[in-house]
Amino acid sequence: MDTGLVAKTESSPGQVVPLLEARSLGKTFGHVEALIGANFQVLPGEVVALIGDNGAGKSTLVKLLSGAIQPDRGSLLVDGVEVTFAEPADAQRQGIEVVYQDLALAPDLGPASNLFLGRELSRPGILGKLGFLDKRGMRDSAVRTLSDLGVDLRDVNAPVANLSGGQRQSVAICRAVMWARRVVFMDEPTAALGVVQTARVLDLIRKVRDSGVAVVLVSHNMPQVIEVADRIEVLRLGRRTARFSAAEVTVDDLVAAMTGALTQEEAER
Ligand SMILES: Nc1ncnc2c1ncn2[C@@H]1O[C@H](COP(=O)(O)OP(=O)(O)O)[C@@H](O)[C@H]1O
Ligand SMILES: [Mg+2]
Repeated sequence: MDTGLVAKTESSPGQVVPLLEARSLGKTFGHVEALIGANFQVLPGEVVALIGDNGAGKSTLVKLLSGAIQPDRGSLLVDGVEVTFAEPADAQRQGIEVVYQDLALAPDLGPASNLFLGRELSRPGILGKLGFLDKRGMRDSAVRTLSDLGVDLRDVNAPVANLSGGQRQSVAICRAVMWARRVVFMDEPTAALGVVQTARVLDLIRKVRDSGVAVVLVSHNMPQVIEVADRIEVLRLGRRTARFSAAEVTVDDLVAAMTGALTQEEAER
């Protein structure tokens, strides 16, 4: 039954230090305990999938790890050092970006402008670095990012409202990737896409990983997760219940872990 389970890595000497880690995170909304001591790790150079049934706490965990909300209990670590994220800008300064389900693009602006949306004001550190850039420089940089990631757009200045769903998703991913140095979270990035567009987004995820930025993929689609992820972490009822190496796991294993038939980590508590 435990075929494919990843060996525990916490505090083992000589093991890789996670880029980003959640330890025993707790978060309560009113009377709902969304997370109850959840653990999660992102390792360098990987696509890690975060799976679990509706309400398992996946989106809450992503929000905590990216500074959108704050935990009631537990700790966050970047490169093994404890941090607090009071707001998304704190996570962004650590190279952590999120592609939200609603994409958060400005529909009237083109892809190039969207890639820089809000950054000039909110990122003085980056502004210093890019301070010499004029509009043209920003556009060139946006075009380079889009083409490096294999996103073909006829006109980088045409309003994104006119793009297909898959193209808009690609623009949102490129924006996150352009600013991320450490981790990009994608919450259900292919949920609204067709087969061809989904395949493109999965390619994009691999390219991002190969460029040295780890990807956290939240998805319901088990075959897709097995196809694209290196590792899979399972949340159930607000805590991580299992971890797998994607190469050795089956859809049945994942469903068992999601539904509670397999409770690898709860048993250790
Ligand atoms: N802002 C909120 N207010 C109240 N309840 C919330 C809020 N966000 C999440 N929850 C609840 O927390 C639980 C986990 O939600 P969520 O993290 O969205 O799960 P998932 O993304 O795995 O479907 C659910 O019961 C959900 O209803
Ligand atoms: Mg969710």
